[in-house]
Amino acid sequence: MKDLIVKKHPKSPVSEAYRAVRTNIQFANIDKDTKTILVTSATPGEGKSTTLSNVAITLADSGNKVLIMDCDFRKPKVHKTFEISNAVGITDLLLSGEDFQAHVHKAIHKNLHILTAGRVPSNPSEILDSKTMKQFIEHLKTFYDFILIDTPPVLPVTDAVILSTYVDKVILVCASGDVAIDYAKRAKESLDKVGADILGVVINKINIKSRNHYYYYYYHEKKKRKKND
Ligand SMILES: Nc1ncnc2c1ncn2[C@@H]1O[C@H](COP(=O)(O)OP(=O)(O)O)[C@@H](O)[C@H]1O
Ligand SMILES: [Mg+2]
Repeated sequence: MKDLIVKKHPKSPVSEAYRAVRTNIQFANIDKDTKTILVTSATPGEGKSTTLSNVAITLADSGNKVLIMDCDFRKPKVHKTFEISNAVGITDLLLSGEDFQAHVHKAIHKNLHILTAGRVPSNPSEILDSKTMKQFIEHLKTFYDFILIDTPPVLPVTDAVILSTYVDKVILVCASGDVAIDYAKRAKESLDKVGADILGVVINKINIKSRNHYYYYYYHEKKKRKKND
């Protein structure tokens, strides 16, 4: 399973960094009022899907019932990362009104369930900006401790900003060196405007060359980013 480093190399410094994000989420949830967490970034390819997938596993490993929702209807990736079918996903369920239980993937990792994106629609923002979507998330909340929601980037499209108004907290992934700080600020401003509650920023893809972080460096070097990935 590509990019699932906490599964492949649980003892690596990268996995340790993902567990640190988990600890921060758990500390932020002392009052048990943080259930739905949206993960986004300013621009494409900063590592939203990778961060979300690894953090979801670490949360599941500490005994939480976790659901991943792939709400990046434009460039869905979660089904690829976990190597599962995307034959029926969120967009299909919203359209048909069918119960999610028959289509949520349950057998991938203990305590972790996944709803894939579904068919790519022609009008993603309209689908997200609907009562049906909002109610769907509310319904799902009754089954899980944490729901992590993958989204498109903030600056090119409005999807993540719309969705941020349905969730408890937002995590902003920021690829170091890749994205101008100005972009990250603009993304934060867009989220602030609608009152999104930003839990924190994950600085991703830091090129650490120190010996202690050799694995991280290796991982970073191995994955060359494609344009628009
Ligand atoms: N911490 C990291 N170190 C190195 N490469 C990473 C890291 N996080 C993500 N990547 C790589 O960056 C690319 C984009 O990641 P992805 O999670 O798909 O971004 P997004 O969902 O924000 O578009 C992928 O090829 C992924 O393997
Ligand atoms: Mg993605």
